[in-house]
Amino acid sequence: MDLKLICVLSVVFVAALSTLAEGKEVPSKCQCKVPPRERKNCGYPGITEEECRNAGCCFNNSIRNKPWCFAPKEKKVRRVCPDGAHIRVNCGFPGITRNECERKGCCFRPHPAGVPWCFYHRTVEAVC
Ligand SMILES: *[C@@H]1O[C@H](CO)[C@@H](O)[C@H](O)[C@H]1NC(C)=O
Repeated sequence: MDLKLICVLSVVFVAALSTLAEGKEVPSKCQCKVPPRERKNCGYPGITEEECRNAGCCFNNSIRNKPWCFAPKEKKVRRVCPDGAHIRVNCGFPGITRNECERKGCCFRPHPAGVPWCFYHRTVEAVC
């Protein structure tokens, strides 16, 4: 390949990457509970609610002289052991002990029969 072609290809590649990065995750209500005085501006003056949310930011125009479009807080998650036996995802092997299971960082509940006793956590968003 000649140098010119490599140049063109890398420009195309970078353009494709930046398009991907635009698909931002929508912040949760919890992440948008930011006290007005801690709000960090996320948009430009006059940004609409839709544009703001599309940029992955939070919108709240109830306080006039604070940013309406602001950066969300980091998502807080916690790990829980799922309740339903039927939704367990096996993390061990038949006969695994509690110790072996917990060393793998998994949940252990030695009941009922016929489902994994050592199973993976789920992550849920923490309450705020
Ligand atoms: C906007 O912010 C105010 C002040 O923090 C809060 O009381 C209100 O519930 C918020 N509104 C929405 C729709 O989140």
